[in-house]
Amino acid sequence: MNQKVAVFRKEHFNAAHRLFCADWTDEKNKQVFGACANPNYHGHNYELVVQVTGVPDPITGFVINTKDLSTIVEEEVKSRFDHKNLNLDTEVFNKLNPTAENIAIVIYNLIRPRLSESLDLKIRLYETERNFVDYPA
Ligand code: NI
Repeated sequence: MNQKVAVFRKEHFNAAHRLFCADWTDEKNKQVFGACANPNYHGHNYELVVQVTGVPDPITGFVINTKDLSTIVEEEVKSRFDHKNLNLDTEVFNKLNPTAENIAIVIYNLIRPRLSESLDLKIRLYETERNFVDYPA
């Protein structure tokens, strides 16, 4: 029997960004990225759902202690990105477009080393209520 259980922790952060390709004209950037290409940046209320899957520990009954998971998200994600301008304030998005896709991959790579290898990790990131991504797909 598959005894794996998925545990979810929802977190929230606010951040500003701009999506653009430096080689393109303002017009083309606006065409491709819409309002997210605004040269003076804009904010999103990101909703982050961290999913950790594994077999519950026989002693504690936990797949992962959600308090520990919350601490990991605080240290790896919120302290880096909350109330920041992703393009200007973070090294990782200095050259990399801070799309929901790329932010999800970056968050995965920050959290993954903090978890036991026996646990699976999945990141869901909402950029708006209607637009969200999953990584890994
Ligand atoms: Ni945007």
